[in-house]
Amino acid sequence: MKNESYWTDRRTIRRYSDRPVSDALLKDMLQKAAHAPTTGNMQLYSVIISRTAEEKHALAAAHFNQPQVEGCSAVLTFCADLNRMTRWCQVRKADPGFDNLQSLIAAILDTSLIAQQFNTIAEQNGLGVCMLGTTTYNAPQIAKALGLPSLVVPVITLTVGYPAESPEDCGRLPVEAFIHNGRYNDYTPESIDKLYSEKEAREDSKRFVEENDKETLAQVFADVRYPRSNNEHFSTTFIEYLNSIGIKI
Ligand SMILES: Cc1cc2nc3c(=O)[nH]c(=O)nc-3n(C[C@H](O)[C@H](O)[C@H](O)COP(=O)(O)O)c2cc1C
Repeated sequence: MKNESYWTDRRTIRRYSDRPVSDALLKDMLQKAAHAPTTGNMQLYSVIISRTAEEKHALAAAHFNQPQVEGCSAVLTFCADLNRMTRWCQVRKADPGFDNLQSLIAAILDTSLIAQQFNTIAEQNGLGVCMLGTTTYNAPQIAKALGLPSLVVPVITLTVGYPAESPEDCGRLPVEAFIHNGRYNDYTPESIDKLYSEKEAREDSKRFVEENDKETLAQVFADVRYPRSNNEHFSTTFIEYLNSIGIKI
């Protein structure tokens, strides 16, 4: 167990050494991670482990060729799995009703929780991890590469390996930014100024603004990194994909 500073010292790791993570360690960590809370103890998830160069290569394009996919020891795709529960019901004289939004939300929560629990356990074991949100952007391609059946949705991917970098702290908003005592205390232009001032004053933030030829850091997020057009496009694709695999949204 690492010491108290683990919680603030942890970093996302995107570059890894050649040292492989053993199958036994991966299995042990997943077994431990499965003790994360789960909806009704149903464990509405599956994890696909991609280890060979071919398996990782098959996923790379769907993650926009982020180098950590082919550069890590193992790629773990954490999937919301409503298929296994459905099949269990079918062979046990129960009528499964899991092909809907409410069940998907439960499965996405279960999947996110085991993924984060695994992330913590891996870091505690000296490993580096990077989460890939591109998983839901290109869910259909990932599902095809992994042979996912109906009712199984890729939610989040973790690249795992021994670290070959020590990134700087990229900071967080002050805790006052997200704590509300008793009732939600809505933000004003003045409180936004105060809560975001440290983030905006960082050298890396200023560099982002300059490199992207923008006026504010918020514009970098809204215009460049997460533009409305992309958000809407990937939303449509994802809903169509969910419907195609039997989840009625
Ligand atoms: C849901 C989610 C999706 C993410 N997607 C990516 C990604 O596609 N590529 C990447 O390099 N990092 C990704 N990250 C990592 C974040 O960029 C990182 O956690 C954040 O910048 C804070 O850095 P830190 O984890 O080192 O504190 C993702 C993190 C989360 C939680």
